[in-house]
Amino acid sequence: MFLELLGGLGVRARSLPVDADGRLDAPALRALLRGLRADGERARLKAVYFVSWFSNPSGRTLDLAQRHALADALRAEDCVVPVLEDAAYRELGYDAASASACPGILGDPAWDGFPRLYTSTLTKPFATGLKVGYGACDCPAWRDAMLHVKGHHDFGTGNFAQAVLEHALATGAFDAQLATLREAYRAKRDALHAALIAGGLPALGWRWQRPDGGLYLWLEGPPGLDTGGESEFCRACLREGVLYVPGALCHGDDAPRNTVRLSFGVLAPAQLAEAGARFCRAARAVG
Ligand SMILES: Cc1ncc(COP(=O)(O)O)c(C=O)c1O
Repeated sequence: MFLELLGGLGVRARSLPVDADGRLDAPALRALLRGLRADGERARLKAVYFVSWFSNPSGRTLDLAQRHALADALRAEDCVVPVLEDAAYRELGYDAASASACPGILGDPAWDGFPRLYTSTLTKPFATGLKVGYGACDCPAWRDAMLHVKGHHDFGTGNFAQAVLEHALATGAFDAQLATLREAYRAKRDALHAALIAGGLPALGWRWQRPDGGLYLWLEGPPGLDTGGESEFCRACLREGVLYVPGALCHGDDAPRNTVRLSFGVLAPAQLAEAGARFCRAARAVG
């Protein structure tokens, strides 16, 4: 969604390079930044955005070493540009301690000197659909510009949803619901993960890491497989009644076409077991 939004604004998104395990590849990032400079495009670099906890779509978390490698690479290449940290899934770690183990950009001196915006949503950890989020920005000019744009776009977020959340936060209902959601999502993740294993997906050349939080499994199919919306694989899934997000939609740059995002947020565990089995049948049909 964010990439679509950026595209509509005429912004070109570039992906932060990662290695085969999905960890930030700092040398490749420095090479990318040097390449921008060599091509005369350095001035077009306006901001850096990352989803730091249990990311959408990969489910990955940036640990302190990767966060610092990112800040160091940007600084070393003279790219101290505004940084936007999207912490939408921070609270959705199944082990509550894992979310608080690492400071966000606002509390980490490694990011001193960068204009910083930390954003999150209260809906993922409480009630999807309420659509209430928040941001904290340490750059007054940037913050004022955002308030101006938001005020003119929607005249403010709905009061009722905000009042519900204020009440939930004040009474402890928010924390109780979060504890319930963590357990529910853990069970859903386990159900989908187990169904994909039981369906024989690894033997068909698929691999994925089981995330410790969030709402997604990020699957890499066999090399050469196309999971795009027009692909044979997608048609096989639709015949089975299964929907997924083609991974190529989740990249700024040209992307590998053999990835898939599976969400386990909505379905109940028994339905996820069925969905996983159907997904495996589709994979076998084209594999
Ligand atoms: C990374 C990320 N940020 C922000 C949001 C917005 O969350 P919401 O609209 O539920 O408040 C989402 C929703 O999917 C998301 O994946």
